[in-house]
Parts: sequence; structure tokens; C-alpha cells
Amino acid sequence: MSAGSAASAAPAPAGRTRPDTPPLVPGGAPLLGHAWNLVRDPLGFLAALRDHGDLVRIRLGPRTAYAVCAPQLAGALLKSPDYIVGGPLWDTLEVLLGKGVATSNGPLHRRQRRMMQPAFRPERIADYARVMAEEAQATAGRWRDGETVDVSAEMFRTAVRVVSRSLLEVDSIGEKADRISDSLHTVFEGLYRRMVLSVGPLYRVPTPANRRFERALADLHALVDEIVAERRRCGDGTEEDLLAVLLGARDESGQPLTDQEIHDHVVSLVVAGAENVASTLAWTFHLLTEHPEHERRLVEEVNQVTRGRPVAFADLTELRHTRNVVTEAMRIRPAAWIFTRRSVVETTLGGYRIPADADIVYSVYAMQRDPRSFERHLEFDPDRWNPERAADVPEFAMMPFSVGNRKCPGDHFSLAELTLILATVAPKWRLSPVEWTDTRTKVGITLHPRRLVLRADRR
Ligand code: HEM
Repeated sequence: MSAGSAASAAPAPAGRTRPDTPPLVPGGAPLLGHAWNLVRDPLGFLAALRDHGDLVRIRLGPRTAYAVCAPQLAGALLKSPDYIVGGPLWDTLEVLLGKGVATSNGPLHRRQRRMMQPAFRPERIADYARVMAEEAQATAGRWRDGETVDVSAEMFRTAVRVVSRSLLEVDSIGEKADRISDSLHTVFEGLYRRMVLSVGPLYRVPTPANRRFERALADLHALVDEIVAERRRCGDGTEEDLLAVLLGARDESGQPLTDQEIHDHVVSLVVAGAENVASTLAWTFHLLTEHPEHERRLVEEVNQVTRGRPVAFADLTELRHTRNVVTEAMRIRPAAWIFTRRSVVETTLGGYRIPADADIVYSVYAMQRDPRSFERHLEFDPDRWNPERAADVPEFAMMPFSVGNRKCPGDHFSLAELTLILATVAPKWRLSPVEWTDTRTKVGITLHPRRLVLRADRR
């Protein structure tokens, strides 16, 4: 029996008999179904689905999709072998990621995860933290007193440099990381458009926007090839970074990975590692401008722990409030906000039938803002993560890094990076909004503030 079937132990929906298929959400348009609602107001639409049940049906054009709206069912979905990554999000991402770890399934995925695991061992994080601290200090050292800083762009650049330098050490990585950052920015914009509006042939028309996208994608792939070639020429570099692991890997028959496989892995890691971290940092700095009390506590904590020296990996366990601020920012402003799966067999979830080849969607954003799981759910309250209160959070209600076999391998890496960067920048700079700061949510592959430009005043 599958884990999907196990989820059928969840409470029955209201009604005398349990229906076979989940309720259809009312209000779909004749041809588009709910696709228009999803395009017009994705966050509001997905959050409102919980009013119709824990598992509901929506229509996206000709296809029916199933939306999971309760933590227990999301946990069951993610842990079940009856679903693979697939659906509209992943089909689009394959354009960028090829057959890397984030888009593969089955035995290939298991092999890829096993292979990259050494690069994410806890003891490796301490080494990466040196790079994180250096990059955080470089970012904080670049700003001038009183200037207006594009915090979103700065955090994106910092995150790309951290992931590239940590995982892909070659001599030219500093300069290449900046080029990766430029290309990736353009690629992300184009990908989200392709995800929500899948009008395939139109994207091949050579408009300036399409040409920019194609050029940026080609640059990104060329850069990754250059990095791998340089590393092959110059030897092993850092003993156990990701590139070393990939170049040394052998399959069951003793064969090394092909260049294409290595390429796809590297792109997957850089893409997954940059955008999520950058968006989370942007939201965190924004939230601190809105909550000066938590900013003050954070700065006091860092100063007390470090006494003016640069923040180091060993300090992280003592930076409890800083860590709570990061966690609460990830709850209320999750960067990775929607995920899709595809059923590989007919199965059940929450007592309902899910046919084979069905698209399932769940929104981390909706789940982490559900008033049934979080008291004062829309309030930014880092103290809710103090151990005595955190114990009240229902299982699977908070999972910014997901669970199951696709759980983010970069979770510890990210938490160290987010905390180090925040603890390095915040005590040096007081950030405040200016006239043209626009913190409305921009919905893309991740959620981020539209234009997070902030005035930086030296403390
Ligand atoms: C704030 C930072 C981050 C967040 C919120 C985040 C979130 C996630 C989530 C939710 C997934 C699972 C997607 C799913 O269930 O379908 C995931 C997968 C993944 N993440 Fe992260 N991530 C972050 C940073 C990173 C970093 C820094 C790296 C690498 C250095 C990374 C590498 C990956 C990879 C390779 C996958 C695909 C795993 C697989 O499919 O087996 N992530 N991430």
C-alpha cells in the first residue's frame, strides 16, 4: 500500500458520504477554467482554496489539477512514492536545468542525490561559511554612508557568488560569478513568463525580450562549460567541493559522468542556490525595516556575541534571535512558494481518488499563512520560533525546504548563509525605505519584493 493511501486516514470531508473525487472549486471560466484566477492573483487564489476543502479540484484550461490545502495531506503527498516531480513548473524549468537533480526522477534522481551528498555534509558547511562570511563582508563594505542601495540586486549577486565560490572553486570564479549573476537574472524573468503563459511558438519569435532570454540562457550554459573545462585543466582544487565530487563520480559500471550530466548538475545547483537565498534575504531586510524592535534586538544580539569582530560559523548557534528572524521571514515571505507533482499511478490522498497522470499543486505560501496552523498568522513574530512555542506548530505546516525525497539538500547551507549575511550586514547598516521603494510582492519563480531599494546609513 502506498503512502498516498496512508493519507486516507486524514479526517473525512463534511457530508454524509465521502465523495470519490475532491470538490470542484466554483467560479471557473468556460474555457480557461481557473487559469485566469491563477494568473491574475495567484497568491490570493491559492490561499482561498482552503475554504473549499483540504483537497480540491481546479481546472487549468483543458486539464484538471488537484490542490492540496492542509499540512497533513501536503506531508503525505511529498513522502509518497506515487508522485514524481512534474507538471507545468517542472516542464518549464527543464528548459534551464536540463536533466539535473531538480528535474530528474526515479533511479536517476536517487543516484544524483547520493552522488552530491558529500558536498553538503555538515562538516563541509563550516568551510563554506568562510566564503559566506567573506562575501557578506565584501557586500557590507561596498556601500557608502547615506547612499541608496538596490538591496535585491546586491543580495542576488552575493548569493550567486557564495554558491559559485563554495561549490565550483576555480581561479576565475570571482569574475565568472558576476557574469552568471547577470545572465541568471534575465533567465528567471523569462522563465516565469513561459511557465504561466505557455504559448510555445510565440517565444521563438525574435522579439527583443525573447532574444535577451535566449542570449542569457546561452551565456549561462557557456559559462558553466568554461568553469568545468578550467577545473579539468587545472586539477582538483578544493578536495570535496561539488565539482570535485562530480568529476570523481563513477556509476555502477565504473563510468564517469558525461559532460552534459555534470553541466546539468552544476546549473541546477547554482539556480536553486541563488534565487531562493537572494529573495529570502530581500524579504528579511524589508521585514526588519517594518519591525525596528526586532532589528534592534538582532543588532544587540550580534554585537554581544561577536564584540565587534566579524561574524563566524561558530557564532551561529548563539545567534538565536537572528535565526528566529530568518525562520519567521521564511514563513511569512517564503521565496519558494508553489510546487507541483504528477501522480504516476492511480492512488488516494485524504480519502479521495487521484487518477494517474494528474497534476497536484500545493502552495507553501498559503500553507504557512494558514490561521488554522499559526496564531496571528499574518503577524511577523520571530519569537514564535522559541522552542516552547514552536512545539505548537502542526507537523508539515512549516516546510520552506520541503520534506521527503526532494527535500532541499541546501537547507543547512542556506540557513548558515542567511544568518551569516544578516548578522554581518544589519549591525553595520541601518536600512530604511526611500520614496521609490516598492515592496509589493513580485510573483515569479520565487516571490520577491518588486524594487527593494533602501537608504543605507552607517551605524
Ligand atoms: C532560502 C533558501 C532555499 C530555499 C527556501 C529552498 C527551497 C527548496 C525547496 C522547497 C525544494 C524542494 C522542491 C520540491 O519539493 O519540489 C528545494 C530543492 C532543491 N534545492 Fe533548495 N532552497 C534553498 C536554497 C538552496 C541552496 C543554497 C541550494 C544549493 C546550494 C539548493 C539546492 C536545491 C536542489 C539541488 C534542489 C532539488 C532537490 C531534488 O529535487 O532532489 N537550495 N529547495
